[in-house]
Amino acid sequence: MTATIPSPAPSETHDAFPINGTDYIEFWVGNAKQSAHYYRAAFGFELVGYRGPETGVRDRASYLLQQDKVRLVLTSPLSPDGVIAEHVRRHGDGVRDMAFWVEDARAAYAAAMERGATSVMEPTVVSDADGEVVLAAIGTYGDTIHSIVERRNYRGLFLPGFRATSSPYHPTSTGLKYVDHCVGNVELGKMNEWVGFYERVLGFTNILTFDDKTISTEYSALMSKVMSNGNGRIKFPINEPAQGKKKSQIEEYLDFYHGPGVQHIAIATDDIIGTVRELKARGVEFLSVPLTYYETVLDRVGKIDEDIAPLAELGILVDRDDEGYLLQIFTKPVQDRPTLFYEIIQRKGAKSFGAGNFKALFEAIEREQDARGNL
Ligand code: FE2
Repeated sequence: MTATIPSPAPSETHDAFPINGTDYIEFWVGNAKQSAHYYRAAFGFELVGYRGPETGVRDRASYLLQQDKVRLVLTSPLSPDGVIAEHVRRHGDGVRDMAFWVEDARAAYAAAMERGATSVMEPTVVSDADGEVVLAAIGTYGDTIHSIVERRNYRGLFLPGFRATSSPYHPTSTGLKYVDHCVGNVELGKMNEWVGFYERVLGFTNILTFDDKTISTEYSALMSKVMSNGNGRIKFPINEPAQGKKKSQIEEYLDFYHGPGVQHIAIATDDIIGTVRELKARGVEFLSVPLTYYETVLDRVGKIDEDIAPLAELGILVDRDDEGYLLQIFTKPVQDRPTLFYEIIQRKGAKSFGAGNFKALFEAIEREQDARGNL
């Protein structure tokens, strides 16, 4: 008789590239001062730190924002020259860096380089009166990078060079808790290359795959593979466009971002109805689904704890997998180019990404694409 041997949980297996979690996400933007105000006022982030000319950094200004475990850095160049200005000129506002928090940055960098990573920055020690941080960075798709951050010998606020800020303006939190996943869009035919990069270089595993039959509407299609690190705290779905009747939303992104990049960041909440109600009241714009979605949603997902009325009122979507269900909603792009947007997600057991909503969601995106003349 064969015994059933459960697969070990990811955290119990040997992790080729141990990552504690997301350290921060850095955006390179045209006007970090105003972007910071948007994230504070609309999303409820707290401004906690600043680095710029007043702290001795001459070429850029950076604002550190925090809400629970989500840490964002918004950076603008102070002159037309250099990599930040060039990035903003080419891509518009966007994600430059999804930083990994690790125990040993030198070892992590060496392991990644040995397995074929592209170096962006060799391990560098930066220090101030609060101790030292070891920073390194490797490239991923497009002009996006992964910084590798070792902070075990640092007691300061964030990174050397940042100073704590205090402001009389304290918008309340909207209940955002942590980064659930970050999705990348890559060019046609490149998804498997980047899946291979995360597998081979960073020891991630492919936990879910969606083909163009799962993710298609009358007009457009895409394919997606979800990559997860060893402890499951970092999840990176990677999309590529697939052939459809009209231009896929991924192609629209690639055209306007001028290459691959981060498409959306999903942030978790424990109370999606409260969070979305608050975000809407503060001016965050969401994609809407037709009310007919709510006529059949419970037939598809079964019993849920929430009343359907507030979900329908706010446009929150529901999906179920073997382990539970999830509630999710997507913002419109948060800049004029149809590039980066946000997902707000509440997981009630489900570990998946809302495949049952893809059709309703993509039809909503296509209505927006059509309005922009890009379908
Ligand atoms: Fe997502």
